[in-house]
Amino acid sequence: MISIAAVDKNWGIGKNNKLPWKIPGEQRFFREKTYGKTIIMGRRTLESLPGGKPLEGRRNIIMTRNENAFIPGAETAGSPEEVLSLIHGLDPDDVFVIGGAQIYRLLIPYCEKALITRINGVYDVDSHHPDLDSDPNWRVASVLQEVTCPGGVSYAVHLYENRFFLG
Ligand SMILES: NC(=O)c1ccc[n+]([C@@H]2O[C@H](COP(=O)([O-])OP(=O)(O)OC[C@H]3O[C@@H](n4cnc5c(N)ncnc54)[C@H](OP(=O)(O)O)[C@@H]3O)[C@@H](O)[C@H]2O)c1
Repeated sequence: MISIAAVDKNWGIGKNNKLPWKIPGEQRFFREKTYGKTIIMGRRTLESLPGGKPLEGRRNIIMTRNENAFIPGAETAGSPEEVLSLIHGLDPDDVFVIGGAQIYRLLIPYCEKALITRINGVYDVDSHHPDLDSDPNWRVASVLQEVTCPGGVSYAVHLYENRFFLG
């Protein structure tokens, strides 16, 4: 599984169930990486999407504790174990944890990698991705993209690896 997130300098990811920024290049990157793949998200992140609907062109798994939840176009999972059974047999590189804060926190120990778009700014936020820089299990393997927008936001995509899975 791969955690994919855009974070500010303090690992902030959202405010009032919205993204604090709008960065078209980052949205494109997210779509390219996840299109045709399996994505796992929390019920609140689903609600934050356009129309509150699953993302098209991807297999959507929504985490909720509501056993009666029925979400057209998506599967639901009530625990990490249920997620693991739904993704059993898939290539771990084809499964993305897409947020939000509660679900990143819950599933990060199961992620072999993380694709983190680090935005060069500090925003007003109320939710965070776990800080992988201060977690000894994680290290930066490479920087995949560095984007400097004149007069706009700069960001860099970092690939992190979980040492636990490296053997
Ligand atoms: N910057 C980024 O890359 C990025 C990406 C995604 C989201 N976000 C932001 O993140 C924020 C939302 O994050 P959030 O933490 O509030 O919500 P969230 O993680 O998206 O969803 C939380 C929900 O997940 C379900 N859940 C939590 N733990 C569970 C467990 N152990 N088992 C089963 N279900 C469980 C619960 O649903 P029920 O209440 O239905 O039980 C809970 O209310 C928003 O601001 C959003 O914009 C940012």
